[in-house]
Amino acid sequence: MNLFLTEEQRMIQEMARDFAEKELKPRAAEVDSTSRLSLSVLKAMADLGMMGMNIPSEYGGSQSGVVSYSLAMTEIGKGCPSTAVTMAVTNMVAEVIAAFGSEEQRTQHIPRICRGEYPSGAFALTESTAGSDPSAMKSEAKRWGDEYVLKGSKTFITSGDFAGIFVVWAKTDKDTGARGISAFLVEQGTTGFKIGRNEEKMGQRGSPTNEIAIEDCRLPRNALLGQEGEGFKIAMMALDGGRIGIGSLAVGIGLAAIDYATHYAKSRIQFGKPISSFQAIQGMIADSFTELEASRLLVLRAAYLKEKGVRFTREASMGKLMASETANRVCYRALQILGGYGYIREYPLERYARDCRVTTLYEGTSEIQRLVIAREMLGVDNV
Ligand code: CAA
Repeated sequence: MNLFLTEEQRMIQEMARDFAEKELKPRAAEVDSTSRLSLSVLKAMADLGMMGMNIPSEYGGSQSGVVSYSLAMTEIGKGCPSTAVTMAVTNMVAEVIAAFGSEEQRTQHIPRICRGEYPSGAFALTESTAGSDPSAMKSEAKRWGDEYVLKGSKTFITSGDFAGIFVVWAKTDKDTGARGISAFLVEQGTTGFKIGRNEEKMGQRGSPTNEIAIEDCRLPRNALLGQEGEGFKIAMMALDGGRIGIGSLAVGIGLAAIDYATHYAKSRIQFGKPISSFQAIQGMIADSFTELEASRLLVLRAAYLKEKGVRFTREASMGKLMASETANRVCYRALQILGGYGYIREYPLERYARDCRVTTLYEGTSEIQRLVIAREMLGVDNV
């Protein structure tokens, strides 16, 4: 395995780093305090090819590959996690349509995602009583002549406020568990598809997280994504890829936090010396960079396998688990290095710690990642 980046991968990483430094980092505190990210920034990211990174060029994607996507996501995550999660979900939606959509669905929606005509995509799987266990969902889709009629509700839907296109899961057969779930493409503004409350969150506050009420929502037959009953597998396969994105994002937040704390430690004088000269602080810095580097390599390995077309379910869960848990630990260490300054709004550490917290929750909690990994290691029947 080659651990060196290609010239193209390095260029994409630098492009994303530059964009994050200039366009995202200076506004990240404002995005947090106003709970609003900039749609024009999302459009600029689409123009740079960041909204369809693993999409073939014939559909308007930049076809940069999964490793480049992971590298870019880490850089965007350093600059603004709210923007990064929007990019992650948008790429995931573009990819799911590319993988399972009909040619008509691909040509209708993917170029609009890649060009930024849809500010983002959204992944409407979770319900209030079906989070870790999506097969318990209650939303239903009934076939009625040439239409499907959807009813139900969704909870915690990232980008619900402004997404142009939603992948929505509902049961087409209530009696067959996961095999009775189907996926549909629903455009923003469709009658009966009502975007509700934007949750007040601890972190990643610029990224809206909405409830959705679905009442008598009539969709043409060709809104079905893939085959009837294939929805659960579509969701699982999309989440495998999504977890690479969230792992990469978490590494970015952790790096931003420890970078800041490292610079601070060199200039903060106590007992007549910079605190970076004390071994207790050096240990925290050394452990943080080491653990983040290990996480980054694990996530990149999952990205590499996905790029090569090899099954990567276990590696994606390992990467997401390790990166999100590590980044949370690193954010708290970095905050500790700043002492009282880490706890006040004037400095970014409390924001990094808040923004990082959700990475062990969304796209599968750490407990779900462990379940996936254990099943893969033991064989599902032995768990
Ligand atoms: N790839 C392909 N197929 C898969 C799969 C995978 N990774 N995982 C499971 N399947 C298939 C199984 O093979 C099985 O198929 P058959 O019926 O043909 O045998 C079917 O799916 C059902 O599988 P399981 O019996 O394993 O399903 P389960 O109910 O036990 O659940 C789970 C497995 C891993 C716990 C899964 O429910 C899960 O991942 N839960 C977490 C959900 C999650 O991550 N939600 C996040 C919401 S989206 C989000 O956060 C996005 C955002 O906005 C930021």
